[in-house]
Amino acid sequence: MSDKCYLEIDGKKIELPIKKGTVGPSVIDVRDLYKNSGYFTFDPGFTSTASCQSDICYIDGDKGVLLYRGYEIEKLAEKSSFLEVAYLLINGELPNKDKYIEFSDAIKNHTMVHEQIRSFYNGFRRGGHPMAMMLAVVGALSAFYADSSNVNDPKEREISSRRMIAKVPTLAAMAYKYSIGQPFIYPDNDLSYCENFLHMCFAVPATKYKINKSVSNALEKIFILHADHEQNASTSTVRLAASSAVNPFASISAGFSALWGPLHGGANEAALNMLKKIGSVKNIPEYIKKAKDPNDNFRLMGFGHRVYKSYDPRAKVMQKACYEVLDALGKKNDEVLKVALELEKIALNDDYFIQKKLYPNIDFYSGITLSAMGFPPEMFVVLFAVARTVGWIAHWSEMYSDPLNKLNRPRQLYIGKNKREFVDQDKR
Ligand code: CMC
Repeated sequence: MSDKCYLEIDGKKIELPIKKGTVGPSVIDVRDLYKNSGYFTFDPGFTSTASCQSDICYIDGDKGVLLYRGYEIEKLAEKSSFLEVAYLLINGELPNKDKYIEFSDAIKNHTMVHEQIRSFYNGFRRGGHPMAMMLAVVGALSAFYADSSNVNDPKEREISSRRMIAKVPTLAAMAYKYSIGQPFIYPDNDLSYCENFLHMCFAVPATKYKINKSVSNALEKIFILHADHEQNASTSTVRLAASSAVNPFASISAGFSALWGPLHGGANEAALNMLKKIGSVKNIPEYIKKAKDPNDNFRLMGFGHRVYKSYDPRAKVMQKACYEVLDALGKKNDEVLKVALELEKIALNDDYFIQKKLYPNIDFYSGITLSAMGFPPEMFVVLFAVARTVGWIAHWSEMYSDPLNKLNRPRQLYIGKNKREFVDQDKR
């Protein structure tokens, strides 16, 4: 394959280098295009744009492949733990036993949050969305941990990374507890990362939370599946914010904002709400018809993906975890699950969905699973964010060691008015 290509503009031939990755599409390096031609590239939605180089995560959307640092997602979900995957994503290799112990002990060291952070929650309305609280309190960490905010110091970057991985679950559980009017539960460092999260969410001072191994194992899988997904909207947002060299807590809080939307991390909440609204298998054809109607903006939530044009590999693992949890909790006859299974069957055999390559994505089954575990729909995206914090941190750390890293500043195709005279108000 060639290592350059040519573009002819206004009679001028411009050479553009081609850069090859390990696998996946090569890229045409257009960095000097404006300098050499006076033209920008135009790609709203970034469907043909590689915004950076990265060695963290690889997706083959046509084949339905997802690799973290070269390891298949299915294998990691089966054999690894969330903290081990966090180490892998951030450091590039799976840890040996000593490294794992050092890393997990360090995370445990940071699970508590400054006591004054508790008072932040009192400022929120009880019925406020927990993700709204998360945006604020994650950003507010910068007011408490300024001693690890210097992004140019690798040691401070490591400390702030570990602080966020440890504290985000604590903050998420606090947001949940506040929203249901229960007292906050302190972390228990004798528990694993996922067990501790369940404990902080579901224990009350009067009654201990009894860990159900099937539930904590499924949560481990859910967190692994959600940990990273290359340059998605929230990760790109974190990178863009971080490119200004702002402190790490502010950058990660920007990721929370971008993730919240129903087209991204909010889809699992939207998918469960949709399944509940459909309510019964007999109503499915009506909703399939709505999804296909070009004049109706209804979409089947939990279906379709910008990159996967085949079955989302995470959805397969998620479907299995979903059955395991429902089985362990005796909820296999759940009506929502019946609707989901039938909807999936019908959609996978329908021409509209086949032609547009719309397969179930991870969010289709994660909502049902999290709901069975006892989480209300508004917490689904918060759980996604707890897991994705690790991916955001991996990309954020990578950025700082990349010599190509510079302030992200896209340009535009201006379609507004040209220069014109100001008209005084009484003459308009
Ligand atoms: N139901 C019905 N039609 C759909 C759907 C859907 N879920 N998704 C896409 N389409 C149609 C869409 O109407 C369009 O049709 P046409 O070409 O006739 O205008 C065509 O498929 C292409 O859609 P698009 O919006 O241009 O495709 P996109 O790549 O921009 O969208 C998506 C990707 C995920 C935003 C979209 O599939 C969607 O809205 N899905 C529902 C929301 C959802 O489940 N999001 C979670 C994504 S996975 C979690 C994550 O990684 O963040």
